[in-house]
Order: sequence, then structure tokens, then C-alpha cells
Amino acid sequence: MNTPLGTPELRSRFEEVFGAAPDGVWQAPGRVNLIGEHTDYNEGFVLPFAIDRAARVAVRLRPDSTLRMLSTFGNQGMTTADAAALDPATARGWTKYPLGVLWALEQRGLAVPGLDLLLDSDVPRGAGLSSSHAIECAIILAVNELTGAGLSEQDMVLATQRAENDFVGAPTGIMDQSASLRGAAGRAVFLDCRDQSVRLVPFDAEAAGLVLLVIDTKVSHSHAGGGYAARRASCELGADVLGVRALRDVGVGDLEEAAGLLDAETFRRVRHVVTENERVLQAVELLESTGPQATGPLLDASHASMRDDFEISCPELNLAVDTARAGGAIGARMTGGGFGGSAIALTPAGAEQRVRTDVVRAFERAGYAAPDIFRVRPAAGALRLA
Ligand code: GLA
Repeated sequence: MNTPLGTPELRSRFEEVFGAAPDGVWQAPGRVNLIGEHTDYNEGFVLPFAIDRAARVAVRLRPDSTLRMLSTFGNQGMTTADAAALDPATARGWTKYPLGVLWALEQRGLAVPGLDLLLDSDVPRGAGLSSSHAIECAIILAVNELTGAGLSEQDMVLATQRAENDFVGAPTGIMDQSASLRGAAGRAVFLDCRDQSVRLVPFDAEAAGLVLLVIDTKVSHSHAGGGYAARRASCELGADVLGVRALRDVGVGDLEEAAGLLDAETFRRVRHVVTENERVLQAVELLESTGPQATGPLLDASHASMRDDFEISCPELNLAVDTARAGGAIGARMTGGGFGGSAIALTPAGAEQRVRTDVVRAFERAGYAAPDIFRVRPAAGALRLA
């Protein structure tokens, strides 16, 4: 993982590379979803938080339409493109994200400028922590400010979704960018994905004697692949057959009747979404009334639902969750879109070491790649640093 550059270092690196100072530096975090998985595109509820790992971009507007993009990581070298001819077919690597954002802004009628851009990020890539949305949110914030486009947070959420859906090719919802743009330190973002309303909910694991561990299984996943889209299609089919606008409109009390109307697989997919929405509402209530220590059983139930009904877990995620629970975590689940990526384990501080050691050993015994295990805490949403 990259050690992040400080703002002065990023600025001076930018000057070395591009021969002039940047107009500014912007930062946007990755996210962990505490609970509410595959509910966003069903117009339901999610409860993610912005994490203390972020993408940072130093940006300078250019007088022409040239785009020059370089990152401090990887070996892609400098990429150049033309803001007047943005093309998903030729975009490569991480530059898909800034190019996708510029393309989405152009689709909204904005005159897209040329830019010099240097990216640094310590959000692990491919770990299910939304490293791509972190980049997109940092860029859109920068471009919004530098061009005076006047986009609201909601506009930026929809534009980055458009970039993901129609430029990158991942049919994702609005959770990740909402967490990155609207998160706050010590808070989880309770988001109603139907009307985009947000309530910040206290989530301070450490004050409750807990730590939130991320276990990156190193199993790589891509939401531009088939599994994510297939789940989304099942949900749309379920809503269609049940005659509702979205699965958000189906309640737990409707499930018995739904079982008689849907094929067995679609029913399981629907049951996951319907019960998961309910778990988000319960988690919010418990965080507000009692604290994070009360949410463990909901995390466990969420994992079981994704493993058995939505079928988006994998053996490595299941092993991480089961081992963490056996080692003392009070609740654990896979987080993010699934098919790989990370699990989270809400763990008493006194059990942290045991959970870490047990998970590493279990992976070794199973012949899996060594997982990466680290703490995260809810951090500020996207902002300008300089
Ligand atoms: C990915 C997507 C989100 C959401 C989650 C699953 O992270 O980007 O929109 O659908 O998967 O909850």
C-alpha cells in the first residue's frame, strides 16, 4: 500500500512534472459499508462511512483541451488525452475514472477543460473500498470548483454514477460516491437511495472499546464483470413480477406472498434485499440508542443473507468472517459488491490481536494468499486541501 504524500510534497511533485504549481489539491476518501448491501440500486437504505484512506489530486486548468494525467503509483506513466474527444474504448487503467467524470460532465452540457493532474492514493485498489469512487469524487470536486460549474453534492453523486455506469461500464448505484462526498468523522452516512436524503449517525467504535477491522482477502473483483449485473437484473425482474417500482417497496410482511409469485432463485435475491433494508433501519436505531456494540448480530445476519440468498460471497470472505467471529469479533460481514474484496469485523480492542493472528493462520492453512488486515475509522468526506 502507498504511504500517502503530504500536500506540500504532492504540490512540489506536481511542479516538477508539469512545470507549474497546481491550482489546488483535493481529497476524497474510500468507504466501508457498515450494512446495506445491494440495496442502493433498489432505491433502498445503506449505511456506509468515509474511511481514513483517500485519493488526493493536484490539478491545474490548462488553456487548451489537453489532459495530462500521472499517478504516484503503478507503472502506467503519463497518459495524455483530449478533453474534446473522450472515448471509453481507449481509456486505460485508473485514468478511466477522471476521464469518465469529465465525460459525464460533458454529457450534462459542461464545457470540459483541459487539465494537468497528479493523483496520489492510499485507498487499496481492488479491495472493495471504492478506490475508484475516491478518485472520481476528488476529480469532480476539483473540476466543480475550478470551473465554477455550481454542481450540488447530489449532482456530483449522479454525475459520478453516470461515469461508472456508462463510461467505466459498471452498473453500480449511488452508495460509494455518497459516502465519499457526504461522510464525516465519527459518523456513518444513513442514506435513503430513493430521495438521496442523508442523516449522519454516530459511529465511534473506539469510544465503545471496539475496533473496526478490514480484512482484505486479496481476491480481486470487478463490478464491470457479470456477477454484479446479474444480481441487479434479478432484482429488477423481482420488482417487475411483484408490480412495484423498486424492491424498496416490498416489506418483510410481503415475502410470504412473493414466494408464491417468484421463481426460487429470484425469491432468494428479493429476500436478501428486503431483509437487508430492514437491517439497515435497525442498525441506525441501535447506533442512535445504544451504540456500535449492539450491531453485531445484524452484521452477522447480513453476511448470512449475502452468502446464502444473494450468493455474492466467496470461500475466502466466508473464512475471514467465520474466523474473525470465532476469534472474538462481535459481528462480521463481507462489505461492498461481493465476489471478492474485503470483510469487516467489529472487534473488542482486547481481541484484535487474536483475530488478526487467527485469520492470517486460517488463510495460510487453506492455501489462500495472505490477507491484509487493518483498522479503519469514519473520517471526513471529500474536501479541498490547498
Ligand atoms: C458496489 C457499488 C455500490 C453498491 C455495492 C453493493 O460497491 O458501487 O453502488 O451497489 O457494490 O452494496
